[in-house]
Amino acid sequence: MCVMSDYVKTSSPFFYEDFFTSLQDGILVADNDLKVILFNQAMEEISGISSSQVIGRPLNHVLKFNSYINNLLVKSLHTGKSYCDLECEFYKGSSRSPFIVSLVVVPFINRNGDINGSIASIRDINRLKELEKDDQMSKRLSSVRELAAGMAHEIKNPLSGIKGAAQLLRYELSDDKLKEYTDVIIKEIVRVNDIVEGLMNLTRVRSPRFELTNIYPILDEIISLEQGTSKGKKIKFHKYYDPSIPPIMADSDRLSQLFLNLIRNAVEAVSKDGEIIITTKVFSDYLLGNKDKKSSRTMLIEIKDNGHGIDKEIMKKLFTPFVTTKKKGSGLGLAISHRIVEEHKGRIKIVSEEPQRGTIIQVFIPINQE
Ligand SMILES: Nc1ncnc2c1ncn2[C@@H]1O[C@H](COP(=O)(O)OP(=O)(O)OP(=O)(O)O)[C@@H](O)[C@H]1O
Ligand SMILES: [Mg+2]
Repeated sequence: MCVMSDYVKTSSPFFYEDFFTSLQDGILVADNDLKVILFNQAMEEISGISSSQVIGRPLNHVLKFNSYINNLLVKSLHTGKSYCDLECEFYKGSSRSPFIVSLVVVPFINRNGDINGSIASIRDINRLKELEKDDQMSKRLSSVRELAAGMAHEIKNPLSGIKGAAQLLRYELSDDKLKEYTDVIIKEIVRVNDIVEGLMNLTRVRSPRFELTNIYPILDEIISLEQGTSKGKKIKFHKYYDPSIPPIMADSDRLSQLFLNLIRNAVEAVSKDGEIIITTKVFSDYLLGNKDKKSSRTMLIEIKDNGHGIDKEIMKKLFTPFVTTKKKGSGLGLAISHRIVEEHKGRIKIVSEEPQRGTIIQVFIPINQE
């Protein structure tokens, strides 16, 4: 039984309106005829639909992209059952990429105990889920990195011994045919050595050298470098830079390495007439690595290409060393990139909706790093 104070009774009807508007959770109430009778402001934000478009309309029209929630509301109305603490995907309009919401569905019961409809309470928990996933991935990658760098360290010394011996052997040999063999040995050792150094980069001892850094000259330099070297491809680069982004405290060498890896991947993924769009934006992200949950101004650098996209199976393994689909790739670019973004207290996200529809890589870096 809900007991109300006189204040509530006298300030009615605005009390209820204010109450539902103030709630952070989206609330949808359907009546016995499965028509929507209440749709609060948070629900408008989650669904992207205004309440004036849905009040009085059939529930299954309003939730046509979210049949799971629709079915639960219908079931709850017919059976009187409640469904608590569920998590499901929510489709905003006809968007192909759903986000995760937590969901409670209960019957709407009046004071006589009759069921008058059903209620859904929906909370957008997508960002929390993403952060949880990032956190798990960081932990997993950190142990993979330790292992890889440990192995690299062990391989490096014998490798230089082998290289020295091969060089000596080459010097001693007079037969040109045999010299060719030693050249192959030395060339391959140099290749393995590059991989080993790449691996050691994953757990560098030198901590980043932060200084005020303007990211635009870094991006521009990489773009002109890649434009010059993208053999046979006529790639169009489009830049949409937000001029209001201030210089940030960053290690410019490492940012350069980061964006070179990402832009080069995009260049390698596109066909002859590829397009690569680089966009920068500022926004407030109150969750980003901020333990006290204060709002943090964040810079977003997005690299979007119209290349071949990323296969679902590869997508699950990205950022892990040696995951590559390229003949000559080492599969270290993204692993190193992830590490660099972590060093800058940022996060990196890859979106590849469907094969052939290209890839979007988003790098978030806090503008004020503490
Ligand atoms: N923009 C992109 N479009 C399509 N696939 C991509 C893109 N970026 C990364 N990938 C996929 O992720 C894999 C891993 O990328 P990563 O940069 O770590 O290694 P790599 O490019 O294969 O080798 P390298 O060590 O030379 O960078 C790639 O082989 C490719 O399959
Ligand atoms: Mg790469």
